[in-house]
Amino acid sequence: MGRDTFFITSPIYYPNDVPHIGHAYDAVAVDFVARYHRLRGEEVFHLTGTDEHGLNLQRAAERAGMSPQAWVDGMEPRWREVWARLAITYDDYIRTTEPRHEAAVQRLLTAVHENGRDDIYLGSYEGLYCVACEAYYVEGDLVDGMCPIHGRPVELLREENYFFRLSAYADRLLEHYDRTPSAVEPETRRNEVLSLIRGGLQDFSISRTSFRWGVQLPWDPQHVCYVWFDALANYITAAGYGSDPERFARLWPANIHMIGKDILRFHAIYWPAMLMAAGEEPPTQVWAHGFLTVGGQKMSKTNATGIHPFELADHFGVDSYRYYFMREIRFGEDGNFSWESMVDRHNADLANGLGNLASRVLAMLGTSFGGAVPEPALEGSQGDLPEVVADAVRRYEEHLLAVRLHEALAAVWDIVDRANGYLVEKEPWKLAKDPARADDLAGVLYASAETLRILAVLISPIMPGAASRLWAQLGIAEPLDAQRLPAAARWGALDPGTKTTKGESLFPRLEA
Ligand code: MSP
Repeated sequence: MGRDTFFITSPIYYPNDVPHIGHAYDAVAVDFVARYHRLRGEEVFHLTGTDEHGLNLQRAAERAGMSPQAWVDGMEPRWREVWARLAITYDDYIRTTEPRHEAAVQRLLTAVHENGRDDIYLGSYEGLYCVACEAYYVEGDLVDGMCPIHGRPVELLREENYFFRLSAYADRLLEHYDRTPSAVEPETRRNEVLSLIRGGLQDFSISRTSFRWGVQLPWDPQHVCYVWFDALANYITAAGYGSDPERFARLWPANIHMIGKDILRFHAIYWPAMLMAAGEEPPTQVWAHGFLTVGGQKMSKTNATGIHPFELADHFGVDSYRYYFMREIRFGEDGNFSWESMVDRHNADLANGLGNLASRVLAMLGTSFGGAVPEPALEGSQGDLPEVVADAVRRYEEHLLAVRLHEALAAVWDIVDRANGYLVEKEPWKLAKDPARADDLAGVLYASAETLRILAVLISPIMPGAASRLWAQLGIAEPLDAQRLPAAARWGALDPGTKTTKGESLFPRLEA
């Protein structure tokens, strides 16, 4: 059995607090891609979870006067409820405190420890540690003496640790990225990774003795495994590493690790090297997206920019929520959230764009044909819609396969815009008044309804709720989730006679 599954992962999140919209940004992107691959008929394994060990977590629990285990047990449902509400269709949810994961981490540690190259050795380390990053920095990394990512003070820590010989893997990593440039995307991030590797890699410590909240090293239980070594291994735990070799062969290497740019070096340097040291293949691709800001600022609890996803989903609806973040920000770059831009997108693209298109077409089908899709008697009346659709579908697929998520959606909106323009040109409301032009009217409404059918399929990975409402209004007998690309986007599949209904508007307009 070889690889037969599209395996995509989100990072596993620190449950030291509840999610904010930055965390959900990853989760929605991964879900969009996962649903798209399912729509292509692929077997998909979408993995997410929580990263429950480490000093930062232990301290969060201490502040709350709880044990770390009780803390993470209480937090986990708070994350899952967000993913459920945002329609995130993960296939597995891994918690690093689960026995299956602890066993896999120990197996990975043992594999590296016993690889015959002394890749794990005992040493001592003194360095500047950022607890929020769970990582050491050197003086030169700091910005105004603070952690470059969190802007928080670092602590001088000294420990006797086991080290991983990362320095031995620079050449193999460079070879890997040379052979497979697409292994880090986008290109700016790849260049960043290459320059870090060329700048020289330092061994990093993979164990801690200063606290107990972690996985014990199998050969020296005084030490607990460094949280990043532990966390990265989640991706292979869930794929059956060491527990189910057949399944592992089908799943590994993962197709895409989707991450934020802040955790790039862990995924694109540490992780492939760890895998190489254990005799396993590196991931096929690490895709690092940008950062979301609020009012131009980093999100944080203290300045009230740590927005919980429900605050937006309650107001805009889940579909609009998912759409906004994937369409507004060029995927890969940083982007700013603002309430105003979200209202604008909602009203322009969804309420006036797609929603209006659907309600106009369904209303006219109702008044002119009692809701039944007419026979497209005149070829000419469909105008350029079939070509516009075919071209946009092609671009949509190309962009999605390359994880250019905002461009994929822009391609879909080329269809929406053209279809609205087509209605303005064809003026079916006038045709309806002229019995001599009944065939023209039938052709125009068939073409419009067929466009709506294809749009429902195309938006289903990003707006699953709106897609199924639209599908139900179109009255198509075959279920939406049985549709497969590319066949489902081929022009002409809508059966005349299909009984449509106007129904409620897909996206009610919002006041600013
Ligand atoms: N636990 C580690 C990841 C381990 S993966 C083996 C971690 N957790 S995190 O909760 O801090 O971050 C999880 C993800 O959320 C990261 O991909 C991070 O980039 C993303 N984001 C957190 N804040 C973000 C924004 N403001 N904007 C976009 N993504 C952000 O790191």
